[in-house]
Amino acid sequence: MRAKIIGVGSALPEKIVTNDDLARIVETNDEWIRTRTGIEQRRVSDDKTATSDLAIKAAAKALKKSGLAANQLDLIIVATTSPDFLFPSVACILQKELQVARAAAFDLSAACSGFNYALTVAANFIENGTLKNILVVGADTLTKYLNWQDRGTCILFGDAAGAVVLAPSKDDSGIIASWLKAEGSLGEYLTMPGGGSRDPEAKNGRFITMDGKNVFKFAVRALEESIKQVLAKANLTTTDIDLLIPHQANTRIIDHVSKKLGLPKEKVYVNLQKYGNTSAASIPLALDEALAEGRIHKGDIILLSGFGAGLTAGANIIRYSSSDYDKITS
Ligand code: UT7
Repeated sequence: MRAKIIGVGSALPEKIVTNDDLARIVETNDEWIRTRTGIEQRRVSDDKTATSDLAIKAAAKALKKSGLAANQLDLIIVATTSPDFLFPSVACILQKELQVARAAAFDLSAACSGFNYALTVAANFIENGTLKNILVVGADTLTKYLNWQDRGTCILFGDAAGAVVLAPSKDDSGIIASWLKAEGSLGEYLTMPGGGSRDPEAKNGRFITMDGKNVFKFAVRALEESIKQVLAKANLTTTDIDLLIPHQANTRIIDHVSKKLGLPKEKVYVNLQKYGNTSAASIPLALDEALAEGRIHKGDIILLSGFGAGLTAGANIIRYSSSDYDKITS
């Protein structure tokens, strides 16, 4: 048995912050940010908006599209590294707010790789017959953890949430292969030093710190590796991919890997110019937009691939059946 996506949704904060807006608070400029990252603007949540607020909106949309009632869900997994609280989890907040009475709920921490990790975990529950209907959300508000004086990080991130509902597939559609990895030895390249149990008072700062060059090197290597590995697991090659949805971090990373693998631009989905790097939300947000824009067709093979803090990487291949497609686009 396979797990297939039967509903997709996403949510964004209203406030748009452009590169020119950032140039007014830190020494940078639109030209540098566009050419080095591809980012033109990002969405930033206000003080009253926490990660669960965006996650609830995205989840409600995905649930509505799926045609399932909330009480039919068996499990909620939220991939996030910016939860409202250390506990309760964002998943438990969703369970309460969406009134998903009988679902179990937990958060999963794999940073920007979180959605691929959560999708893989959820698919395994369905594949082995343990659970039937699962809500998987990727949600982050990393702009709350930016040092707005650090031009190496504050230009990169934005806030968003994306969600999918998974259910058992009765045909050959669904998640056909998954691949995950971690390189904890490289963890120091992308960290949130303060606020955890090693430094509960955040004396070391509650801000994202990053060695951009080394993360870049890992990202290029991991994106290529994850695509090759997951294709091998599915017994497919790059020519079988109809649409690659990579983690939306930097167009230079995406272009480099696409070129190396011989993937033409029309087979690679990019929306980071509008949203920046939205961490765990980036892939489900891109999937939602790709569907809305008619970029995904009946029977298409979609490859989702990402990398992030940990350092981590992961990928999933999805085959869309016509019945999923009709439901999602209706
Ligand atoms: O989900 C994973 C999250 N992280 C990533 O994906 C990050 C991966 N890394 C990157 O995307 C890139 O490393 C960055 C976009 C962060 C930086 O690009 P880079 O080409 O690696 O630039 P750099 O750090 O080597 O800096 C080049 C120059 C430096 O000046 P000098 O030393 O050559 O005079 C920097 O000080 O650009 C300067 N610089 C900037 N200038 C204007 C760095 N940041 C900025 C900025 N505006 N925002």
